[in-house]
Amino acid sequence: MPVSRRRFIQGSTGLTAMGAFHFLPNREGFAMEQTGRATQRVVDAPLFIATWPFGKASCEQAVKVVQRGGSMVDAIEQGIWVTEADVSNASVGIGGIPNADGQVELDACIMTGPDHNAGSVGGLQDVLHPISVARLVMEKTPHVMLVGEGAKQFAMEQGVSPTDLLTADQKKRWEAWKKQQGAEKPEIDEDHHDTIAMLGLDAQGNLYGGCSTSGWGYKMPGRIGDSPIIGSGLYVDNQVGAAGATGLGENVMRHCGSFLVVEMMRQGATPTEACEQAVGRIAELDPKNLGNLDINFIALNKQGVYGAAGTSQGFKYSMADPRQSQVLEAKALSEKSIGPEGGNRK
Ligand code: GLY
Repeated sequence: MPVSRRRFIQGSTGLTAMGAFHFLPNREGFAMEQTGRATQRVVDAPLFIATWPFGKASCEQAVKVVQRGGSMVDAIEQGIWVTEADVSNASVGIGGIPNADGQVELDACIMTGPDHNAGSVGGLQDVLHPISVARLVMEKTPHVMLVGEGAKQFAMEQGVSPTDLLTADQKKRWEAWKKQQGAEKPEIDEDHHDTIAMLGLDAQGNLYGGCSTSGWGYKMPGRIGDSPIIGSGLYVDNQVGAAGATGLGENVMRHCGSFLVVEMMRQGATPTEACEQAVGRIAELDPKNLGNLDINFIALNKQGVYGAAGTSQGFKYSMADPRQSQVLEAKALSEKSIGPEGGNRK
């Protein structure tokens, strides 16, 4: 058994009449183990969850990083590298859909529970791994967020090499999009905003998170979404739990979405209930109706319970721990569908 594979028992939840069983997932996704006459929740740590099916490879990588002796921050960073480096992913990192001027502008953030620290970057160009620059902001500066040219200059000063993020395929698509829009007022493409948000829990019950995206396809230059905004695209509260968002950032950031999910957990909601309640609260306040909000949340609490919910059918999320990895269906609050596979929608 690898050293990092630490199982921790989150306390007895009472007696059961079901007889002996091992690792039966309950509705929230955590394992139950029969020990004598008591049923106990068992968490295999480290545990990671992430948005979308593409998050599975990132979660699996994060587990490996810890198993090889890396820290949880290394795991979040290097897990997210996998998705950022995937050129076939049109919504995160290289190969991401550019802005209306044909430039790929990336947003990312990272947050650590034990010291409640955070770093983020917005509108960052020419950097393959914005999550790493977010980490550098957190660790090497007195600030939380750097954007645009300043963020890029900081990255270069830290030794990051510039990378052209606009692939030939995305350039061709952007040129076709530009032609269609006419010179006056190009419409922005509302269909492309599938972020990776990733949350992790270690064997000591500490929480971590990260987020990375190229944002809304063909967005206005300079547009920053929810993903690098602490409390919107990501929030980690080491006393309670962590949450992350994907979908239309404008509908998350006007409501401090991830902070709201964590606060729901603080009030006693399970992670799935917290995501549902946050979506419901946003839908109550927001002038857009539920089916048009296009927002989704994932959540993980300090006990290793995780869940997700979104406005529409079809949002999936991923999990991995040393024992297993899988893609799970999130709870949907409307009948509207977001498409068969979610991420990388064209
Ligand atoms: N959720 C990512 C964005 O809207 O930019």
